[in-house]
Amino acid sequence: MTTIIDGKQLAKKTNEQTKMEVQHLKEMGITPGLAVVIVGNDEASQRYVRNKNKTAQRLGINSKVIELADTITETELIDIVQQLNDDDAINGILVQDPLPTHIDERKITRKIKPEKDVDGFHPYNVGKLFLDDTTNYPVACTPKGIMTMLKEYNIDLLGKKAVVIGRSAIVGKPMAALLLNAGASITVLHRYTTDILEYTKTADVIVAATGTLHLLQAKSIKQGAVIIDVGQNIDETGHLVGDVDYDDVFDRAGYITPVPGGVGPMTIATLMQQTVELTKWGLNSGK
Ligand code: GUN
Repeated sequence: MTTIIDGKQLAKKTNEQTKMEVQHLKEMGITPGLAVVIVGNDEASQRYVRNKNKTAQRLGINSKVIELADTITETELIDIVQQLNDDDAINGILVQDPLPTHIDERKITRKIKPEKDVDGFHPYNVGKLFLDDTTNYPVACTPKGIMTMLKEYNIDLLGKKAVVIGRSAIVGKPMAALLLNAGASITVLHRYTTDILEYTKTADVIVAATGTLHLLQAKSIKQGAVIIDVGQNIDETGHLVGDVDYDDVFDRAGYITPVPGGVGPMTIATLMQQTVELTKWGLNSGK
């Protein structure tokens, strides 16, 4: 029997926990603050940012959206990031990607104070992740949310064969590191992998994050495999679907995340959770 990993339900539960933690912090006179910076008019980015802002406000987080014209210079954007770094009311800073091409995304990421890097994209935090550091640090929200899903469904990773398809800094690379840290043997596939089936057919866990329609079918996977679909694509009929042929794969999978209602809601819930964690870690560091 196939188990559907219900991201919507788990996001609701995670948000309820976050809301309680925010209330607890507020009783101590502390309100977690999240700043989301968006540059330009990209429709998808604006939708994501609206959702993040709405969720933050619902949970009692002090959320601030900074909308900037795409004519802003790199230096001006860095100044804004630095102001947010210095603002004691802000615990988490997120600069929505993609940025206009005249701005170096990596440079902006490096300017965010690692202690406020709610996306977990700063090289310092990525380094900690790859070293499986034992101190507190933020981790990219999509893969961190996926780990929460795997844990909630008691999916054991120790000694398992995990395949990550996609090698982005936002999903693929941190996902691989998290799975490795959890004791899985990992293979990362990407656009230059010549035969992805060679790897996917024997994998116990597959995380697909490529933005490719119909990337995986039933014939691509092992019976009982755990299928995590990060893809967000519009299919031929105009519906939002993942990278995996859900209906085709369903009976063969052991566990599967739907799209929509799987990884997406958990990403936002994890962002909120991590804003609160950064706030608490800041308190404990004596600042
Ligand atoms: N663009 C798409 N996903 C993300 C994300 O998780 N963080 C940021 N900053 N930009 C994104």
